[in-house]
Amino acid sequence: MSTPAAPTPAPVSKGLEGVVAGTTAISEVDGQRCELIYQGYNIDELVTKASYEEASYLLFFGKLPTRSQLAEWTRQLDGGRTVDPHVLEILKQLPIHAPSMALLRTMVSVMGCDDPQAEDDALDSIRVKAIQMVAQTVTLVAAIGRLRENKPIIPPKPGLSHAANFLYMLHGEEPAPALAKALDAYFVLLADHGFNASTFTARTVTGTKSDYYSAITAAIGSLKGPLHGAANCKAMEMLEEIGMPDQVEPYVQRTLADHKRFMGFGHRVYKGADPRAKHLKAIAKSLGTTKETKWFVISERLQEAVWQAKQLYINVDFYSASLLHYLGIPTELFTAMFACARMAGWSAHILEQWADNRLIRPLSQYTGPRDLKLVPLSDRT
Ligand code: CMC
Repeated sequence: MSTPAAPTPAPVSKGLEGVVAGTTAISEVDGQRCELIYQGYNIDELVTKASYEEASYLLFFGKLPTRSQLAEWTRQLDGGRTVDPHVLEILKQLPIHAPSMALLRTMVSVMGCDDPQAEDDALDSIRVKAIQMVAQTVTLVAAIGRLRENKPIIPPKPGLSHAANFLYMLHGEEPAPALAKALDAYFVLLADHGFNASTFTARTVTGTKSDYYSAITAAIGSLKGPLHGAANCKAMEMLEEIGMPDQVEPYVQRTLADHKRFMGFGHRVYKGADPRAKHLKAIAKSLGTTKETKWFVISERLQEAVWQAKQLYINVDFYSASLLHYLGIPTELFTAMFACARMAGWSAHILEQWADNRLIRPLSQYTGPRDLKLVPLSDRT
């Protein structure tokens, strides 16, 4: 009998580029118009008129809260922000100079082991876990930041906003309103972004009907990569390597000659400017006027030089770098800050996937050899 012909290869899209892998009502990333929409609201409007508390409610429930709903939501976040001391004891046992995203990933996993309701898969129970996770991520990240500097952990202060609380727990003093507002806007802008790699990871894990903590742990692992969330860290390292505004041009030439990437530039979906970048730039600029302006100056020159050299647009991570730096946040915590913001989006997507689930299981095209004959181990060379 003759061997059947190899199957005709189906078209493959490397990196799933251009593939529509599902539906969502949570956010729209419009690559042609360069717009980002959360549940019907343009990010341009949300960033100036809504707090992270309002935006996270919007992502969870599909509508902006009324005054009383916001008060209740804020109360839940406020009440949920304290991390169990015995979980923090486990954090203290970890090698604290490991990457902050590795620590965060581990701690979310620990929280999953610690939660007696972790395996309760009723939608309401997942929502309760998600609210708590949104609330506690800032506490965990601030604790990681404190321990890395050999400083005692500071518990959250009831009554402060999500953003203000983070800065308070990291720095040990209540932030000026402008600083809290800057971080709040950063959180709003990064709260969700369609089927980006980490969100898709979270949905894929949820698609197997695994638990909430597993999905978030996996999402953190995905965000940790330099082509995704860690680009904000790498962008800051790039600014530091440049060091002075007059070193921008030599840096660009070196990077081009070495065929390396400019971190915080380029995007898979946006065909023009990333809609979040202009807001982050404006915030970084205003923060820079009262701090060391050079980071903003270097950033702006680099933006221009990379555009001249390669016509690459900046993405969300580029001005996130100077913005977070101006807030006194150590570079090693930058990607974990992204995770703080995205926790609302990941959670909303997990809930959406769960509510109408189908296992996510694409095909692959086999490119290995066929019809090999097994040689006994004793005869193999
Ligand atoms: N620096 C230099 N060249 C670039 C860059 C960059 N940042 N981005 C794309 N290119 C070039 C790339 O070299 C390639 O050129 P050629 O065809 O001559 O080899 C071309 O553009 C297409 O690149 P690609 O890798 O096929 O494009 P992609 O859609 O897969 O890449 C990206 C998207 C974000 C991975 C890429 O732009 C990149 O590596 N950027 C730097 C890392 C970064 O900033 N990541 C954050 C992404 S946005 C927020 C997030 O997801 O967290």
